[in-house]
Amino acid sequence: MTAQPWMDTSRSPDERAALLIEQLTLDEMISLVHGPMPSMLDTPPADAAMGAGYIPGVARLGIPPLNETDASLGVANPRKIRKGDGATGLPSGLSLASTWDPQLAYAAGAMVGSEARDKGFNVLLGGGANLTREPRNGRNFEYLGEDPLLAGVLVGEAIKGAQSNQIVCTLKHFALNDQETCRHVVDARIDEGALRESDLLAFQIAIEIGAPGSVMCAYNRVNGEWAGENDFLLNQVLKTDWGYPGWVMSDWGAVHTTVKAALAGMDQESGEQLDREVYFGELLKAAVQQGEVPFERLSNMVHRILRSLIDKGVFDKPAEKRPTDYEANAKVAQAAAEAGVVMLKNDGVLPLKGTLRKIAVIGAHADVGVLSGGGSSQVLPVGGAGLEIPVTMGMSSAFSQVTYHPSAPLAAIRGLTRNTQVVYASGEDHAAAAALAKDADVAIVFADQWATEAEDLPTLSLPNNQDALIEAVAAANAKTVVVLETGTPVLTPWLDKVSALLQAWYPGTRGGEAIARILFGEVNPSGRLPISFPRDVADLVRPEIPGMIFGPPVEGKTLPTSFPGVQQHKGRFSVEHPEGADVGYRWFAKTGKPTLFPFGFGLSYTAFAYAGLAVEGGETLTVNLDVTNTGAVAGIDTPQVYALVTGSDGKESQRLIGWSRVTLAPGETRRVTVVADPRLLANYDAALPGWRIAEGKVGVVVGTSAEALTLRGEATLTARTMKP
Ligand code: BGC
Repeated sequence: MTAQPWMDTSRSPDERAALLIEQLTLDEMISLVHGPMPSMLDTPPADAAMGAGYIPGVARLGIPPLNETDASLGVANPRKIRKGDGATGLPSGLSLASTWDPQLAYAAGAMVGSEARDKGFNVLLGGGANLTREPRNGRNFEYLGEDPLLAGVLVGEAIKGAQSNQIVCTLKHFALNDQETCRHVVDARIDEGALRESDLLAFQIAIEIGAPGSVMCAYNRVNGEWAGENDFLLNQVLKTDWGYPGWVMSDWGAVHTTVKAALAGMDQESGEQLDREVYFGELLKAAVQQGEVPFERLSNMVHRILRSLIDKGVFDKPAEKRPTDYEANAKVAQAAAEAGVVMLKNDGVLPLKGTLRKIAVIGAHADVGVLSGGGSSQVLPVGGAGLEIPVTMGMSSAFSQVTYHPSAPLAAIRGLTRNTQVVYASGEDHAAAAALAKDADVAIVFADQWATEAEDLPTLSLPNNQDALIEAVAAANAKTVVVLETGTPVLTPWLDKVSALLQAWYPGTRGGEAIARILFGEVNPSGRLPISFPRDVADLVRPEIPGMIFGPPVEGKTLPTSFPGVQQHKGRFSVEHPEGADVGYRWFAKTGKPTLFPFGFGLSYTAFAYAGLAVEGGETLTVNLDVTNTGAVAGIDTPQVYALVTGSDGKESQRLIGWSRVTLAPGETRRVTVVADPRLLANYDAALPGWRIAEGKVGVVVGTSAEALTLRGEATLTARTMKP
């Protein structure tokens, strides 16, 4: 028996946590369930790594402090609280989702997790599994699109990768935080079955794959109760139905009560200076002493925290600062960016040839770098930003600057050409840009759209008159290529007038190099959209973002302001979700509205064909098909399999049940297999409670996107029910 039996690694994490709890005083237990933002303390503790959150440890028992940092796109440093401490910036979540590649998600997560550990952090506050219900949501770039299977699998893999570094990940924001406008007051209302089949399913899959040590609640209310004191979400769904053993931490400023939150399943108050009071400090202690919160509940909060720390290796291999191999990590980011670029149009101008006489590069600060998204996930580039533009108004101005990673597409393009003259125009002067383009063989217009946490985008249109810039350049040069660096889908009114269109999202630390390699065909584009591009905001479930109003126009600023209380619902501000589980492409399919670019869409420099569909039914669907590379160069294809399920409302719902990402040489054929997670073939029956598959035939369609469906089959499913 050692002096510290909880350090005996032959015991289970639960046994070790229980042994530790026997040693803790009430004050020590309370100190483990709340903590500050260390950067806002007058005297930060010596063992604080200076990230978003800090929870003191208990040194006498060897319990380490929790040093928490954002997040899934790299180790963040939003207000530069760690002076000069840069990190590798991954491409945005939508870019990662565009890869449809679980292994790449794992590698990306492993890289970020290793940097977090290098910097002394043991809790990484990512990833985010919220589904895109609002394409103008300012945080879409942090999330992985609109499908529960795709988002759940990729977030789960990224978490698994990050936690392979003996740190804890925090899956967030649980749940239905689908707009930033009024995020602190909005009540998101939805039917239980629909929620279980969509956003909750994404979280459930991510937890099954990634086993995150922690889950972060959302700011908003869900069906009337704050997400952080929502007994249904926390106690019922997460901890009981899913048997989740880890701890629930609050979002920063998302705790509103002591007793109610504690009893509903909240385990730890984070960033406590942002709450009206420190609810889980002295107030919780008093509530425990008075019996309003049973001691067993406090003990369970602490148990969940300690067992996750032990389970993920934080006790046995504590994070210690060590140097980072930024060069190796940049390669991971570049590989992700290359796989995440989606080619949306190409009339043959791409790939560019090395023999071009002159290329005009225009716009979006392509001479200095590539854009990144704002808010708590903001990574400070290693060696400093390429460009920073202060944000002076709007909800995000407290913690955001428009930041460009110093990976200039212009330099990268020059690096891939030898005898080509590559010239640049900023694009502010449309006539000058058009003149430059006119005299070039090819014009490449970079267009960007900054998105940030805490605000939604006012429209789906490119800001700063960039549509007019593209029109002007396209009028001057028939060979105009547009490269988008946006946080979310945008409208492309000039599409017919340009030769090619690449969606590069926010491409991260080596984004410029990744874009250049795609443009010149050194990399064959393989990205597929994880999110639908609507034709018009009028086609959206909610053409106007509930709660968004615009302040008076301010010179040079297009940022929206948001205002609580615009729509009142029984005294509360609420958003209804009539789309239910039919989010994104499912909604467009159901309402018969074609999109500009559908979910799953993406072009390649080669072509693929599908044949030989075989569908087997029974307990679930097993689908086989042949994929052939019919073109002249090697490429990667992602055939997608959708089931046509009769939803709870009796209407057909098109649901992605799987995909395969295959690399094929020219002429090569591969047979691929997709086995459906049976929950995707079921409807959630709240009365059961559980998943229910009705006996009967179900249609299967295979395609290159949710709209281009080339093979059709069907099979009979046996009736079955499954636990929640
Ligand atoms: C965000 C979280 C983040 C936290 C800590 C909050 O404002 O919603 O995603 O992890 O801040 O920075």
